[in-house]
Parts: sequence; C-alpha cells; structure tokens
Amino acid sequence: LDNGLDLTPQMGFNNWNSTHCRADFNETMVEGIADIFVSKGLKAAGYQYVNIDDCWALPHRDAAGNLVPDPVRFPHGIKAVADYVHSKGLKFGLYSSAGSATCDVQGFPGGLGHEQQDANLWASWGVDYLKYDNCNNEGLDAQTRYKTMRDALNATGRPILFSICEWGSTEPWTWAQPVGNSWRTTGDISDNWSSMISIAHQNQQLAPYARTGAWNDPDMLEVGNGGMTDAEYRTHFSLWSEMAAPLLIGSDLRTASQATLDILTNTDVIAVDQDTLGRQGTVVSSSGGQVVMSKPLADGGRAVTLTNENSSAATVSTTVQTLGIGGASSYGLKDLWSKQTGSTTGAISAFVPAHGTVMLRVTPGSPVPPPTGMSALSDLAW
Ligand code: DGJ
Repeated sequence: LDNGLDLTPQMGFNNWNSTHCRADFNETMVEGIADIFVSKGLKAAGYQYVNIDDCWALPHRDAAGNLVPDPVRFPHGIKAVADYVHSKGLKFGLYSSAGSATCDVQGFPGGLGHEQQDANLWASWGVDYLKYDNCNNEGLDAQTRYKTMRDALNATGRPILFSICEWGSTEPWTWAQPVGNSWRTTGDISDNWSSMISIAHQNQQLAPYARTGAWNDPDMLEVGNGGMTDAEYRTHFSLWSEMAAPLLIGSDLRTASQATLDILTNTDVIAVDQDTLGRQGTVVSSSGGQVVMSKPLADGGRAVTLTNENSSAATVSTTVQTLGIGGASSYGLKDLWSKQTGSTTGAISAFVPAHGTVMLRVTPGSPVPPPTGMSALSDLAW
C-alpha cells in the first residue's frame, strides 16, 4: 500500500502467540514490553511497534456505537497505553476483525459496518498500526471489506500501517498490494517445527508478489516460546528474514532467555530482512530436505540460507552461479550467526545441524575482513 509506511517489513511485538486471551494480556504486560524494547536493545535493533491482539475490548459497543476497552485489562484505557508506548519513542498497534465480531469465542465487536467510526476512534487514541482479522465476515467479499477499512484509515489523516490478516484464503498476494502493507499468506503458526517449516514452504512460493510497502506475512514469530530448540528458532528467524517477512516478536520478553534475546537482536540477520532493495528471497535449490535460498541485496550481494530440514546433521552446498551472482573472480563470505568471515571463488558448503540453518552474506569482490580475534575461512571450509 502506497501510504509511505512499511518501506521495509514492520518490526515489533504482538502478544498473541504468548498469551492468546489469557488474563496476563493486560496493560502491565504491554507497557513492560515497551520498557524492555528500550532496556534490552530491541528498539536499537529496529523493533518499533508494540501491538496488541484480540480481546482488548468489551463484548459490546457503548450507546454511541464506540468500542470500549476492557477496564480490567486496560484500566486506564487504550489511549494511555498508546501514550506510554509513544513516550518510549515507539509506535502502538491495535487489532480488529473485518467481520461482525473478532475470532475469540466471546465475539468482541468487529469493524464491519463501523469502519470510519472505529478508524476515527483509533486515530484519536494515537494508534499507528492496525491488524485486521477475517473472522465472522458473513461471506462478504474480502477485497471490498479490506478496501473499506483502508479508505477509512486513510480518511483519518493519521499514518496507520495496515496489516491484512486474511490467512491466504482468497490469495491476497494477487490483490492486496494496493490495499495493505502486508497480508497473511497462511493459517496461524504454532510453536513447533512442523508448523513453522510448513508455513515457510507455503510462503517461499510467493516471493514475486512482495515489494516495498507490500509484504507477504507468514505470521508472527514463535522464537522464545519454548516449543522449538534454539537451532530451530534460528532457522525460523533466518527464514523469516530471508523472506522479507514482518518480524513481530511473539514471546513474553519479560521472561526471555539470553539465547532468545540473542536470536531476536542479531542485527546481521535483521539487516537482511530490512534490506532496502525490498526483495523476498527465493528457493534456488531443494533436494532431500536441503533447501537453499538466495535474496538479492541492495549492495549487489546475496543473503543465503542453507537449511537442513532433516533430523540429522548434513553438509549443504551451493554455488554462486546457483545463487544468481556468478561471474566475479572472488566473493566475500560472512556467516551471520557465527560471525566468521572468509572468501570463495564459487563453491559454498556448510555443515548444518539437524533442523538448522547457516545464513551467509555473499558479496562479489574483495573478501570481508574477519572480526578481531577470528581467522578467515576459505572455500569449502565452513
Ligand atoms: C486469528 C489470527 O490469525 C491470529 O493471529 C489472532 O489474531 C487471532 N485470530 C485472534 O483471535
């Protein structure tokens, strides 16, 4: 959507994957996350949006037809939370559904038929981001429903990032570029390897549809929620960045381990996601569970993922020709997780643990100097 927002994929937090509608989804949590964004270096790493999901409202609108924040979860209202988030130099996001009710069984009020009234209320609260779900849509045309909300947000005059959460059922990648800043391509992610990797496979096919301001969204991150190993979470974070996906943290950062924080704040991997060329990586080879992706970068190089989807370690190989950058006499290499550097004349090969990913930057021209205290690696020695 050409609204001047989301020129690189949105980065932030959303409570859904860690709390769903449990009582610990409340003002204390949301403000605590904003604090941690600042104190633990997430804001510095590029995370900007603190977003809340379903179950923030009361089940009924007020007499004037306005949405009402749940006074138990949000005793000071939503505007107070948005103000707090803004006071930290961050942005605030809210959730609704393009239907008569949201997805939760309690059926909180949806935006259908109330688009301008709701958009105006959110703008008055200082909302910077809307995630707009698809439950209880009464069988009405998705494009019409999402365009109506796009126009309502635009009419408020406040810049509001528009995240379409339609789950891929009407192939939004074929129509949503002028409608939203991102669109979900799949059903909901769960905190396990098979869910994460099957969502990655679906989203990997959709690279041609992503562009600046209009991104495929394979759902929010599960990194740190406990259902995968750290190697699997590194694969999750690597693939989402390789696919130029929104990076929305889905774990409760107030109790995050150092390993979780280290994954989420890997600025080399984040730089791939946020590369200004705005291209989603593509699968360039896939055989026997060994999947290689290549993402063109603004500096003329490629970000590369070597993923081993099998349950035992293996060597995964590719070449610069396969990556789409053959022709130079040498290439600099940087491993974005181990930070080791080196060079190659064309062959690239890495030992990859079970369910792991080695992620590299491959740059035509001179080798990247190794960080202090580290020796450079050479061809095939990764
Ligand atoms: C379905 C969405 O896909 C989820 O991300 C979440 O927003 C829930 N609805 C909330 O009910």
